[in-house]
Amino acid sequence: MTKKVSPVAKFKSLRTPFYYYDADLLRATLQVVVEESSKYDYHIHYAVKANANPRILSIIHESGLGVDCVSGGEIEAALKAGFPASKIVFAGVGKADWEINLGLDNNIFCFNAESIPELEVINELALAKGKTAHVALRVNPEVDAHTHHHITTGTKENKFGINLDQLDKVLDQLENLKSLRLIGLHFHIGSQLTELEPFINLCKRAEELQEQLLKRNIHLENINFGGGLGIDYRHPDQHSIPDFKSYFETFHRYFKVLPGQQVHFEPGRSIVGQCGNLISKVLYLKEGSFKKFVVLDAGFTELLRPAMYDAYHQIENISSSEKTEVYDVVGPICESSDCFGKDRELPLTNRGDFVVLRSAGAYGESMASQYNCRQLPQSYFSDSLE
Ligand code: LLP
Repeated sequence: MTKKVSPVAKFKSLRTPFYYYDADLLRATLQVVVEESSKYDYHIHYAVKANANPRILSIIHESGLGVDCVSGGEIEAALKAGFPASKIVFAGVGKADWEINLGLDNNIFCFNAESIPELEVINELALAKGKTAHVALRVNPEVDAHTHHHITTGTKENKFGINLDQLDKVLDQLENLKSLRLIGLHFHIGSQLTELEPFINLCKRAEELQEQLLKRNIHLENINFGGGLGIDYRHPDQHSIPDFKSYFETFHRYFKVLPGQQVHFEPGRSIVGQCGNLISKVLYLKEGSFKKFVVLDAGFTELLRPAMYDAYHQIENISSSEKTEVYDVVGPICESSDCFGKDRELPLTNRGDFVVLRSAGAYGESMASQYNCRQLPQSYFSDSLE
């Protein structure tokens, strides 16, 4: 039997579906992140896109991390949560002028830029303000992350980053953009990586590029390796905190830091993934000709990952301990993709039971939508629901 996520009694008065976050687990995870990364003086910028819940941001802020933002809205959310602008990196293949201006006005640490047209716009907007913008070039390292094709980003056919064969040209052009200061390189090869090998390849590629740039007399003050460390969706209780020790050790071992150089990371999922669960109630049991369906009051409007990426989330009925049956667990949305899991073994399930979708802390609440005029889910935290 897997560990029950929380006593049902706490949830009885709450309207489902909602997100329930284990604040202690989040703090414990952050402690490991800080401990393991500070061994090597690495800088950590939490990827806000994984979960921008204000309370989550505030707990992460307390741990001293910086942030990685991909929109003006995320920059605003981060500033509101108290993150200093000096720890904000701003990425994204399509930054709007107002978003760039927001970054410039707040003197954020760095713009991770992806193309010559973007660099030209940042330069123009910085010039108009009489400022110098700090930029890092996001390079597409052409390293295969061996993950779902929707969340792989470091291969040539992707829209992300500057391709290796174009880097020299971009560096040539950069010399004419006087309101920009190149402060480093940025990479991100993909998300939910469960092996360390692609990161080793990334380190090797970064070293090669570093050599190449040194020949042009460019000394990179900063290297940003992005995010991507995966979590164990199948065994959330056995592996509630990802192996940050091996992760950072790998970079330490395979990437030789130059004197004075700072190394940065942008983990998202690995920090918040396991601390969040989506709590729903069973609306109906429906018997098809071949299958039994558990119809939940949560759908892909609250947790999109299974519909969008075929992602696996552990499903638990925390109200029943009867012997198990096999069900398809589906949501109420009018689309066949609104299915959380096929042929799942659950204890005999009844209307009104609480069903928990585990490991939903990352890209759950942040990807929720109001499709079908549904309300966005509420969120509750373990330490304020005693
Ligand atoms: N840095 C950059 C530039 C990114 O694009 C991402 C994620 C991250 C950092 C954080 O990656 P993480 O550590 O969370 O793997 N919605 C998808 C995941 C999309 C990831 C997009 N980029 C999902 O639910 O699996």
